[in-house]
Amino acid sequence: MSVPRPSEAAPVATPSPAWSLRAARAGDADAWHALQATIYAEGRAFVGDGPPSGGALAARLRALDPDQGTVRFAELGSGAAPADRAAAPGGLIGWVEAYRMGSRRLQHVAVLTVAVAPRWRGRGVGRALMAELATWGRRRGVRKLQLHVRAGNAEAIALYQRLGYALEGVLRDQVAGDGGFEDEWVMALPLDPPEGWWP
Ligand SMILES: CC(C)(COP(=O)(O)OP(=O)(O)OC[C@H]1O[C@@H](n2cnc3c(N)ncnc32)[C@H](O)[C@@H]1OP(=O)(O)O)[C@@H](O)C(=O)NCCC(=O)NCCS
Repeated sequence: MSVPRPSEAAPVATPSPAWSLRAARAGDADAWHALQATIYAEGRAFVGDGPPSGGALAARLRALDPDQGTVRFAELGSGAAPADRAAAPGGLIGWVEAYRMGSRRLQHVAVLTVAVAPRWRGRGVGRALMAELATWGRRRGVRKLQLHVRAGNAEAIALYQRLGYALEGVLRDQVAGDGGFEDEWVMALPLDPPEGWWP
């Protein structure tokens, strides 16, 4: 298999009046659960059996140490159309979260998840969330942002490649599906990459 190379760094999208980005708050858990449920219902992106409960997400937000992890949301703004508002109870339309690995030798690595509500895809929300994540990582001394993605998730892989993420490895037949098994890719972006990082 050929190793994807990063394309030119693309400019960061400017949030429109219809939406903006912000850090998570303790009261976001139920709206976050509803947003996660829409992504799980598609059945194409995640590998878990379903979204964590609102209570579990509330506990995750309460326990969040800003040096060790981050959760950021895209939410509807005052310029959002009524139909968009009706489609997003709680107002959240996307999120990115990342957590550093626990042990001292792995602290420089943060593992991320990103998702955008179906209605809002292709409008720069995912790119903007990923840009904010990279800013958090650089400020906290993270050296590598890493993720797992199903090999058939072309939209997500396109986003990651566009942002400079490269393939680090392939987990063969990692995900069981209706028609067989699917590979999972491990991809990563070095922050302040050293000379010769890219293969
Ligand atoms: C992957 C995902 C987060 C992308 O979010 P998004 O808001 O649609 O992405 P953006 O509009 O910011 O697009 C950024 C780049 O991604 C790529 N991209 C996004 N959607 C694409 C598509 N349908 N086809 C091809 N490329 C696509 C493009 O390169 C795009 O850059 P460009 O517009 O300059 O060409 C979104 O599709 C999603 O939530 N999917 C379901 C959940 C998921 O798969 N999460 C990742 C799990 S690993």
